[in-house]
Amino acid sequence: MARNTRRFVCQSCGAIASKWSGRCDACGEWNTITEEAGEVSGVGAGPGAAIPRGRRIDLVGLKGDSPELPRMTAGIDEFDRATGGGLVPGSAILVGGDPGIGKSTLLLQALAAIARKGEPVVYISGEEAVAQVRLRARRMGLDDSGVLLAAETNLADILATLESGPPPTAVVIDSIQTVWSPAIEAAPGTVSQVRATAQGLIRFAKARGVCVILVGHVTKDGQIAGPRVVEHMVDTVLYFEGERGHQFRILRAVKNRFGPTDEIGVFEMTGAGLAEVSNPSRLFLGDRGTDTPGSAVFAGIEGTRPLLVEIQALVAATTLGTPRRAVVGWDQSRLAMVLAVLDAHCGLAFGGHDVYLNVAGGLKIREPAADLAVAAALVSSLCGVALPGGTVYFGEASLSGSLRSVSQTEARLKEAAKLGFTGAVIASAGSAAAPERGGPMTVDHVDNLAGLVARIAASGSGRTRRSGS
Ligand code: TYD
Ligand code: MG
Repeated sequence: MARNTRRFVCQSCGAIASKWSGRCDACGEWNTITEEAGEVSGVGAGPGAAIPRGRRIDLVGLKGDSPELPRMTAGIDEFDRATGGGLVPGSAILVGGDPGIGKSTLLLQALAAIARKGEPVVYISGEEAVAQVRLRARRMGLDDSGVLLAAETNLADILATLESGPPPTAVVIDSIQTVWSPAIEAAPGTVSQVRATAQGLIRFAKARGVCVILVGHVTKDGQIAGPRVVEHMVDTVLYFEGERGHQFRILRAVKNRFGPTDEIGVFEMTGAGLAEVSNPSRLFLGDRGTDTPGSAVFAGIEGTRPLLVEIQALVAATTLGTPRRAVVGWDQSRLAMVLAVLDAHCGLAFGGHDVYLNVAGGLKIREPAADLAVAAALVSSLCGVALPGGTVYFGEASLSGSLRSVSQTEARLKEAAKLGFTGAVIASAGSAAAPERGGPMTVDHVDNLAGLVARIAASGSGRTRRSGS
């Protein structure tokens, strides 16, 4: 009997439903469910069919000899760091990011660097024609690197080609949304296609010991199936992020079965491709006006690396009934929390003010340790008092207004000292050992936000007195 293999798939989370609805029950997104044909299945397949009898598999203990994973480094330090120390044979990597952010550029550069070591590598482009990729390679001076190139989107042809010769070291598929499998009756880029093609490529990676790198576009409106469904299938997920208007790009590991996550690689988009940035703090601090109120320097940690960034706040009287709260580079709800704590425990009224918060340089900060720096910038702007130059801030705020110390104090202070900062204001509660002085740093401890506000207000009145006398 012919089976009805029609089904409804959420293009956002990949959940499968038997009937259409306006809202996905699994992820709550609206208008993401589309009808797709199921996989071409054999007789008796599908739910309810009897599972054929399998063979017995050997169970083993956790202890045993496993050879150290050989890794292939590209020699581009920022790329190798983000991948956890190089590419692992037989692993699958997803590189996600907004269209136009520089994924193709980065991966072409990484492949070329590996090819220059004499390793066979293949770049399959589903988005650009051979001539386009060649033109870009020539502009970046990579055309003599030995990367093998093809423009193809049919999964069967791609796999047949890759399996025909000796296996390459690494393969880039740019992008997974353009590749389609003839076995699936759905348009390229739909969840069914993305899942099936990724599966086919990952199976090839494991079977032949090839490192397969999949490029995936992330779109906010859910039009194209996000590579989210692929995230749990691959070994490593890297996100390439940055603001389009800025030249900085950050490659961030969010999942890695073979290395640490939260590592970042920092790049700068130049006329000749992406250039490594080995001292990102200097870049993110940029040309900072130290005398203006509302600017505080946060000593953060990204992965294993300390990173200094400037936090800018502007607090201005509002004419709107509901004041504006605009944030770039930080969490909106975290800002709401810090404002509420300053309001409730420090008596600062932000209710009649618009608040704008910006992390300079286009970086996105995820650490709660930024609370103290954000609070300092906000109070500084509200009071119109510039914070002392040469001082960094870090510490986590709690709802009671008290401050909690954060990890890696020493590394943060050392980075600040290295860049010429002379003071630090840090949260003290719970810090057992006194932090080591990184050179000429003076470390001031505050244990709650009220203490911070008092400090800033005192320095403001001191200055007024000075200028008045
Ligand atoms: P691309 O790698 O094509 O982005 P993605 O693959 O993520 O869609 O990069 C596209 C942008 O990068 C494009 O707007 C131009 C810019 N770019 C440079 O500024 N310099 C360069 O050398 C290259 C190759 C690209
Ligand atoms: Mg591209």
